[in-house]
Amino acid sequence: MKITLIAKTGVGLILLMFSVFAWGSVKKPPEDYSKETRECVKCHKKNSPGIVQQWGASKHYRAKVGCYECHKADASDPDAYVHDDKKVKKHISIIVSPKDCANCHEKEVDQATNSHHAKAGRILGSLDNLLAEVVEGNSDFVTEGFPKGNSAAAVVGCWQCHGSRVKVNKDGELDPATWPNTGIGRINPDGSEGSCTACHARHQFSVAQAREPDTCGKCHLGPDHPQKEIYEESKHGIQFASHHDEMNLDNPKWIPGEDYFTGPTCSTCHMGATRKQDVNHNVGLRISWNNRPPVSVRPELTDKNLGLGSANVGWEERRDNMKDVCSSCHGDEWIDNFYQQYDGLVTLYNKKFAKPGKALMKAAKPLLKPAKFSNKLDWVWFELWHHEGRRARMGASMMGPDYTHWHGTYEVAQHFYIKFIPELEKLAHKGESSSDPKMKAAAKTLRAKLDEVLNSDDHKWYLNKMSEKQKAIRKAAIEEFKKKYGSGKK
Ligand code: HEC
Ligand code: HEC
Ligand code: HEC
Ligand code: HEC
Ligand code: HEC
Ligand code: HEC
Ligand code: HEC
Ligand code: HEC
Repeated sequence: MKITLIAKTGVGLILLMFSVFAWGSVKKPPEDYSKETRECVKCHKKNSPGIVQQWGASKHYRAKVGCYECHKADASDPDAYVHDDKKVKKHISIIVSPKDCANCHEKEVDQATNSHHAKAGRILGSLDNLLAEVVEGNSDFVTEGFPKGNSAAAVVGCWQCHGSRVKVNKDGELDPATWPNTGIGRINPDGSEGSCTACHARHQFSVAQAREPDTCGKCHLGPDHPQKEIYEESKHGIQFASHHDEMNLDNPKWIPGEDYFTGPTCSTCHMGATRKQDVNHNVGLRISWNNRPPVSVRPELTDKNLGLGSANVGWEERRDNMKDVCSSCHGDEWIDNFYQQYDGLVTLYNKKFAKPGKALMKAAKPLLKPAKFSNKLDWVWFELWHHEGRRARMGASMMGPDYTHWHGTYEVAQHFYIKFIPELEKLAHKGESSSDPKMKAAAKTLRAKLDEVLNSDDHKWYLNKMSEKQKAIRKAAIEEFKKKYGSGKK
């Protein structure tokens, strides 16, 4: 059987014909591949030809990095086993962890390991997890390694993005609750964190594929972090989609302004090299806000919580790193003004909705049923910050006005005024008419907080108490408009 491989090199397109059955027909002498790898290939071309083909199309193949170089393991590794005791007779492991890649790619592994990505498996004890484990799920997914069971909703949902702690069972096999898994913060049997395959799909490990927005879009999408959708609707995403062929995605060197210029991808802005910076696998080093919590915080704070080395890199420096990317294609004023717009939206959301919302939830707590998510209010508040509030901020950060507004601030406001406040008022009312003095006192506190928030400048329009100043501004604007455009009605 002849197999045709199309390989691209810096010089151009070369059609490479070779037979994986007969190494003699390969242009490069097979002697350069390790003895073990040749045995792996010989056998695997029969039982999994797809893998051998993909590897054959990779840069690893050309660099003579074979199956054994990646899959080899120390006998003492928890997941090591002698997979073939006739030909190879050496320990291998199925999982090729960052520690294994580090034999040759130390810098990338070091950066990735010290990023939020590698720690994403650690959130599995978080509040959201209550949703998957209890509210949405149960513990009926029982496997050998987990006699007490797991929630199928967590195994097949959360863990596939965040990563599972891969469990090796007694017989050396990987437990089906935790494998297959290519979550970004996978906790590997050798103790390393992260999964390079999350972005570099095996067995081509093509850098061009990692630069595609679709790669990030496996995880960065949906109601609570729609970066993929925001990007697609932004001018940058439009540029990318309409000029895909001009992006030179498989250039080894890939610098905006030199190797491509039509528009940036996720990788350009968050990881890629510029004229001044190298590729960086710590995706946090160019962001100056963390918009995931109810109230946005600076990234060095969350890095510190995770014990990351980058905790000592301040947000200003990170912002400068990102501005350097923008400056491949834009002028300084454009960039600086963009950041003022973005900060403006983050500050608006934090001040008007998130901080008062948090304070109101705190005041409401004694009046709520104790089980989290058993109250309507828990869900309303959760979606307000976790979905809508994030969408508004994230939309602003990546130039997606539809997400900033219609999927963002519009829904934040709508749910704040027609769900959150009415629900709190109901609670206060119920507490006030309770015979329990504790409830009565709690209701009084909540009522006071509600009055305070609703009478503040940002919210008193709701009580039909728009300030005289605001009324005058609006009136002047309407007059001005009428003078220019008549009645203004369409
Ligand atoms: C004598 C034939 C033979 C040789 C030599 C061989 N393999 Fe395999 N390997 C197989 C077969 C058959 C399977 C599929 C077993 C199955 O269906 O679970 C397999 C499965 C695997 C798996 C997946 C195991 C799983 O459960 O998902 C890995 C990883 C693997 N081989 C790697 C290697 C590497 C690396 C080498 C060389 C060091 C190698 N193999 C050499 C025959 C071979
Ligand atoms: C650059 C490193 C690298 C090389 C070279 C490599 N692998 Fe893999 N292989 C991986 C990674 C990474 C995974 C995914 C496991 C993980 O997520 O850790 C994997 C998974 C596998 C699996 C199990 C997954 C599945 O889809 O069933 C098999 C089988 C396998 N490799 C066989 C091979 C064979 C055969 C070769 C040589 C032709 C080879 N590998 C070369 C890194 C490598
Ligand atoms: C034994 C050494 C070795 C190991 C182990 C290894 N690599 Fe590589 N890798 C290389 C070499 C050498 C190249 C450069 C090939 C070239 O530039 O032509 C390379 C290139 C790459 C590239 C760039 C591909 C491209 O299209 O430009 C990626 C991505 C990559 N490796 C990822 C990985 C990952 C992920 C792992 C672990 C699963 C891994 N490598 C394990 C040696 C290794
Ligand atoms: C589609 C993939 C995906 C699924 C499924 C998913 N997440 Fe996430 N999660 C993400 C991404 C991506 C982020 C980071 C978003 C960002 O930075 O904008 C994230 C962020 C988080 C955070 C915030 C981390 C921080 O640093 O503040 C928590 C907590 C979390 N997820 C928990 C969960 C839990 C628990 C589940 C299941 C109930 C789950 N996620 C399901 C992709 C996913
Ligand atoms: C979040 C996705 C993502 C993860 C996870 C990831 N990479 Fe990458 N990697 C990329 C992107 C994107 C590029 C291309 C950057 C560019 O050139 O713009 C890249 C480039 C590379 C390169 C090419 C060399 C270079 O500096 O351009 C190597 C080697 C590499 N990655 C290895 C790894 C290893 C090893 C791991 C696991 C520790 C890993 N990557 C994890 C996205 C990822
Ligand atoms: C397999 C899922 C997955 C993929 C693929 C993925 N991410 Fe992530 N990403 C996450 C999760 C989960 C988090 C949140 C981690 C945490 O803080 O717990 C995250 C966080 C981030 C952050 C915030 C980092 C910080 O320090 O706060 C950035 C930026 C990011 N990802 C960019 C990217 C880019 C760019 C790509 C593609 C090249 C990508 N991600 C691919 C899951 C993924
Ligand atoms: C034009 C450059 C650019 C592109 C393209 C881009 N981003 Fe961003 N991204 C940004 C900026 C700017 C921020 C906000 C940085 C800050 O807070 O200072 C951001 C923030 C983020 C965050 C942090 C969200 C949080 O939790 O606060 C994630 C995750 C992210 N981007 C992922 C992606 C993904 C995935 C893609 C592609 C689908 C992408 N980005 C495309 C510039 C870009
Ligand atoms: C690879 C080149 C490139 C990079 C890098 C880049 N942009 Fe752009 N950007 C463009 C192009 C092209 C347009 C579309 C211009 C037009 O509308 O004619 C654009 C448009 C914009 C717009 C206008 C959006 C709209 O809806 O009109 C803003 C704002 C913007 N970019 C900000 C940024 C920021 C901030 C960064 C860095 C985080 C950045 N860009 C990085 C090429 C780039």
